[in-house]
Amino acid sequence: MLNVDLSAISDFVSGQQMAAMEPRVAAAYETLATGSGAGNDYIGWVNLPRDYDREEFARIQAAAKRIQSDSEALVVIGIGGSYLGARAVIELLKSPNYNLKKKDTPDIFFAGNTLSTDMVLEIMELVGDRDFSINVISKSGTTTEPAVAFRLFKAKLEEKYGKAEAAKRIYATTDKAKGALKSLADVEGYEEFVVPDDVGGRYSVLTAVGLLPIAVAGIDIEALMAGAEEARVAFQSDRSMNNPVWKYVAARNALYEQGKKVELLCCYEPSFRFMSEWWKQLYGESEGKDGKGLFPASVEFTADLHSMGQYIQQGERIMFETVVRYDQPHGEILIGADKDNVDGLNFLAGKPLSFVAEQALRGTRLAHVDGGVPNILVELETVNETTLGQLIYFFELACGISGYVLGVNPFNQPGVEAYKKNMFALLNKPGYEELRETLLARL
Ligand code: PA5
Repeated sequence: MLNVDLSAISDFVSGQQMAAMEPRVAAAYETLATGSGAGNDYIGWVNLPRDYDREEFARIQAAAKRIQSDSEALVVIGIGGSYLGARAVIELLKSPNYNLKKKDTPDIFFAGNTLSTDMVLEIMELVGDRDFSINVISKSGTTTEPAVAFRLFKAKLEEKYGKAEAAKRIYATTDKAKGALKSLADVEGYEEFVVPDDVGGRYSVLTAVGLLPIAVAGIDIEALMAGAEEARVAFQSDRSMNNPVWKYVAARNALYEQGKKVELLCCYEPSFRFMSEWWKQLYGESEGKDGKGLFPASVEFTADLHSMGQYIQQGERIMFETVVRYDQPHGEILIGADKDNVDGLNFLAGKPLSFVAEQALRGTRLAHVDGGVPNILVELETVNETTLGQLIYFFELACGISGYVLGVNPFNQPGVEAYKKNMFALLNKPGYEELRETLLARL
């Protein structure tokens, strides 16, 4: 099971401060576990790794097999919580270069997460004339970006296969009863998967939302769920500060109360990039409200040491780092000796590249702590389906508890509506006429 190392926050948070967090974390956990807190109609994810719908899970596996056998590409249409988790898992376990690799599973393109014309054109071009399917994902079924993208890609699919055949290649993941996508799926006869009522978008990666695209990429979703279940059992049974979840929640809230305003999620693996994007949404939407909340940001080391490193070392002292670390690369690269040694690197001769990376991590950690940046270390033995299931559940559970420690409802996102209303008004959507007049007067 993963480990949380807090040794590099001790210069910033005292033992008494950490001890004072314990009863607050315990109370927040109790609030979540008993469903007695704000947003308690959205806590279905807490026991999801145990209670998930096995019948639907089998249908997800069957659909993934079908897509693998009849499609060279899958277009996954969704935004926010309806795509970040799937992309994060696929990039971490397969590769950010998944589509470029030789493989016997379809290419996967993520659409509907932007209003960029260029991006839609590019995905259309990349799919080209190949056989493809669509997985359209929207809990509300009404979000503009995926709805528009779906209309566009559905037209391409229908043009290629005809309406009836195209319908067999469209998989809709949405609410079980309501929303425009649900109505369309019913009318057109698409295969449907459900986003459970009590699981919000950013907590939905372990539902059909994430699992179908992940399975299409050839990832073992049973092992992913089993890892999450191991974590659920471990993290729900240990009600003490030995629990990695409690440690993380206590540390980040103690640091916040000491004046740290930014949590930087750091990893030394480029394939972690979309895990960071997923994490940022999870924490940003869950905690950033009521004028409160750590700002979740991310950096990719060592690349960003050459861009953000200066600020981290010596800029405003408003941040701490949470470093996710795991060992065991998939192979070994040894640095060779060079008889001329013009590049002066012979002091590394015979050393594996991973050894150099390890020293970068250790040196950076010490430098940043010396510069006033506390460091939380989240350590995994390795990355595979099981440990990633554990990590996902770890961050989700910590987020729910942390929101209650902070005193917010971690399961709503009222602030996301503001831009949507303005956009609808400016687009002349019926029902927004009055707002349109006000906005136009301001533009
Ligand atoms: O976490 C959330 O609730 C949001 O990020 C949603 O996932 C996102 O806005 C997409 O919503 P929907 O799935 O309803 O299209």
